[in-house]
Amino acid sequence: MSRLRFAFVYALVAVVAIGGAVALLLIGLGLRGDDAVAPEPPVAAGPFVAQPGQVERGAYLARAGNCGGCHTARGGLPYAGGRVIETPFGGVPAPNLTPDLETGLGRWSAADFWRALHDGLARDGRPYAPAFPYPDFTLVTREDADALYAYLRSLPAVRRANDPGRLRFPYGTTPALAVWRALYFRPGVFAPEPAHDATWNRGAYLVRGLGHCEACHASRDALGGASAAASFTGGALPTQHWYAPALAAPVEAGLADADATQLVQLLKTGVSPRGAVIGPMADVVATSTQHLTHEDLFAMAVYLQPASGANPHATASRAAPAVPDAPPDQMKAGAAIYHDHCARCHGDAGEGAAGAYPALAGNRSVLLASPVNVVQAILGGGFPPSTAGNPRPYGMPPFVATLDETQVAAVATYVRQSFGNRAPAVSVLEVARSH
Ligand code: HEC
Ligand code: HEC
Ligand code: HEC
Repeated sequence: MSRLRFAFVYALVAVVAIGGAVALLLIGLGLRGDDAVAPEPPVAAGPFVAQPGQVERGAYLARAGNCGGCHTARGGLPYAGGRVIETPFGGVPAPNLTPDLETGLGRWSAADFWRALHDGLARDGRPYAPAFPYPDFTLVTREDADALYAYLRSLPAVRRANDPGRLRFPYGTTPALAVWRALYFRPGVFAPEPAHDATWNRGAYLVRGLGHCEACHASRDALGGASAAASFTGGALPTQHWYAPALAAPVEAGLADADATQLVQLLKTGVSPRGAVIGPMADVVATSTQHLTHEDLFAMAVYLQPASGANPHATASRAAPAVPDAPPDQMKAGAAIYHDHCARCHGDAGEGAAGAYPALAGNRSVLLASPVNVVQAILGGGFPPSTAGNPRPYGMPPFVATLDETQVAAVATYVRQSFGNRAPAVSVLEVARSH
């Protein structure tokens, strides 16, 4: 049984047990599970008139929060919902956010909207699944929430009924979500830290609140919760076979030696001298960060500098354990594959080509302790996002049909232990598990 599977079964048992206990407790108190959270009386949505500039401001904030990235199905109409957010506990479809009266937010008041974003509660008082990153959005200010609401109200109404949730029992039930919230959710608006300047605080607000970077870049326990101590420790995206590196650990995302300018460049254009974004991060850049102003990206970069205090664990970088040499046969096979299939773009010495092909020498994706990202890159290839700063990105072909698992393991091992790189060898089993 894989470790993930084990975690899942463990989580299931735990949730059933805890959920059952809570349900019993509630019955004991004479409450039904559904009443666990007392619903506020529904507020009628009066005619809504946006203040000057509010819609534009909301449109920008929606980019920063990547609302459209989740609430738009592939090939679907913007914000009409339908994309399913996969979690280890099942899929959660993102709802229609357009102002349609029957299927969207047409009857929602600004107060209903605030409650969803800030408290993670639906109009009828039911808690949302945290696939909606409200544990991060709770930091968003009321003013920004109102601007987001104004923007969503300004969109063309699209009639598209929401799909039923697909969380496996009992995860989607009110008692299970109530337990999850009791363990991991603390509502609270962002409070600027006086010890830091306005730039740092703006960056903290965007990274930890609206930008919900921790939704991916934090490790999760068996119940899918991230504790405060886990902030920016790096997180596996279990359903996608990608690993979001620790943003505050110098050995991983490597922001310690990447200056703020390089990070801004990566978030703005999808490419930087130290590597390209690939996989789920390419989508984040495409639909969110490339649209942010230089000032906001710079603020995020300032906040993420390890020395800036964003993460108390930053300096306690996980010192890389001594890496054993890969088997010589595997290195030899890997070298041959590299020279046949990879060197024409990434260069004989892994030096890449500026502006076109990322260098593999010193590349952070290649050097991560976990091999999942390098394996995903080789199997699936891909393009960095097309951005204003890099409108015609160079792509990489997928090798899933050209190379077998043994060959992928060999070439991945080769790039991890050549050109001055030093990361653990990759086994065939690890490749097999990555897709
Ligand atoms: C990572 C994906 C993701 C992102 C990003 C995201 N949402 Fe959602 N959102 C969801 C999911 C999934 C749900 C449904 C949760 C559930 O059914 O329990 C949801 C639910 C909602 C709801 C409740 C709608 C209803 O009909 O009950 C609102 C309002 C909402 N999101 C607004 C936003 C806004 C505003 C943003 C941007 C600031 C945003 N969302 C960003 C995934 C996302
Ligand atoms: C046609 C040119 C081309 C070939 C051939 C090619 N790559 Fe790539 N490679 C790229 C481009 C372009 C990117 C950036 C892709 C992205 O961001 O989605 C990339 C990205 C990568 C990455 C991720 C780097 C990062 O910064 O995240 C790895 C690892 C990688 N390639 C390894 C290989 C290996 C190993 C081979 C041979 C099996 C190979 N590539 C063949 C062009 C190529
Ligand atoms: C949907 C999940 C997801 C979200 C949300 C997300 N990331 Fe990522 N991020 C990833 C993954 C996966 C990678 C590794 C693949 C890659 O390097 O492109 C990554 C890579 C990165 C890297 C590159 C690190 C390196 O090795 O050079 C940076 C920087 C980064 N993310 C910053 C952010 C910031 C800032 C935010 C919030 C605005 C954010 N990410 C939100 C998934 C995510």
